[in-house]
Amino acid sequence: MIRLKTKVVIIGGGPAGLLLSQLLHTRDIESIILEQKTKAYVLGRIRAGILERGLVNLIEEAGCSNRMHAEGFVHNGTLVSYDKEIFRINFSKHTNADVMLYGQNEITRDLYEAREKTGGKIEFNVENVSVQDVKSATPFVEYTIAGTRHRINCDYVAGCDGFHGVSRRTIPRKNRREYEKIYPFGWLGILSETPPVNHELIYTNSAHGFALCSMRNANLSRFYIQCSLNDHPDNWTDAAFWRELKRRIPKVYADQLITGPSIEKSITPLRSFVTEPMQWGRLFLCGDAAHIVPPTGAKGLNTAASDVHYLYNGLKEFYETGSSKHLNLYSEKALQRVWKSERFSWWFTSLMHRAPNQSHFDLKIQNAELEFLRSSSAAQQVMAENYVGLPY
Ligand code: APR
Ligand code: PHB
Repeated sequence: MIRLKTKVVIIGGGPAGLLLSQLLHTRDIESIILEQKTKAYVLGRIRAGILERGLVNLIEEAGCSNRMHAEGFVHNGTLVSYDKEIFRINFSKHTNADVMLYGQNEITRDLYEAREKTGGKIEFNVENVSVQDVKSATPFVEYTIAGTRHRINCDYVAGCDGFHGVSRRTIPRKNRREYEKIYPFGWLGILSETPPVNHELIYTNSAHGFALCSMRNANLSRFYIQCSLNDHPDNWTDAAFWRELKRRIPKVYADQLITGPSIEKSITPLRSFVTEPMQWGRLFLCGDAAHIVPPTGAKGLNTAASDVHYLYNGLKEFYETGSSKHLNLYSEKALQRVWKSERFSWWFTSLMHRAPNQSHFDLKIQNAELEFLRSSSAAQQVMAENYVGLPY
């Protein structure tokens, strides 16, 4: 057994774990990240690319914002379309704020680079991670690398190991409450080296289902269409995808869409999930380990970021003043904001998709809500406020 010691063990080297580790580093608070996969694997995952102002600020605070500011795109509005209607929600006008379009794997890459430059310790390919004694003042984490068991004694454990991680399951089942909603459809997404069809995103509710036109840069586009849960990416040739996308988005954009071969194609099921509490003794859950949102509105990473904010500030307070006040408030504070992101993601998903069991009544209500959003400045303000991100 190899024995190590640190202040904070961070389980999971996804964006939440990396951001937390880099922020702690700015305050000289040492941490070790344990990641079960390789760096190449983590960087290969493609996820949403919209960053709220709060996350942009955290990336700045972590000292990793140079490339994001150089290569990211500021978006101060988005298009929404349904039926024959198309309208723009102006974030700047309604909220004085905007969002940053920058791929999640680019942030992850920047965070890895920063951790490597500043001597951060990241263990890859860890197996059989086990979180122990978090209800005591002396927790520890054990894991195996290449057949050798390791043990790290620490003050705190941050469970940033995503939905399938071990951290959440460390909290005894009887002390955990889980809330879940599974949606009866998925998203088929493609990435293609083609220019975006518009300089801002287009969210569409069409009679054939939801579609989203997004992008990564001037020659890299990301598109999604709502699909059946039984579907498989292999069922979709590129030509079939483009045909279906064109059928769903407003004609003026369909006519100018530039298509090309896809370089990635995958299906994501849609789920809302929250576990409570997010703290158990000296274990704190962060990001996807504690909650999942459907991707409509791109709140996944942004909600992970608000957890990181609360945990980082609690740990900073503890190491700088000895007070555990904010650490003890972590679960309550994080969950208040998590549920607001859950609400928005559920609402935007419900508004924009055609469910297989939707009745005529449901359809009329959905249409009325879209009409209201199109015609009411107050409704647009509510949407904009949530889209750019509620305050931490
Ligand atoms: N031990 C160590 N690492 C683990 C374990 C484990 N038992 N289980 C999972 N991991 C790792 C995964 O390999 C992954 O790299 O934890 C990491 C979790 O990363 P994410 O799933 O990306 O979750 P998180 O960092 O919370 O990121 C927030 O925002 O857009 C959303 O869901 C999207 O990942 C995104 C999330
Ligand atoms: C994306 O670009 O992948 C994206 C953007 C906005 C969303 C979801 C996904 O709401």
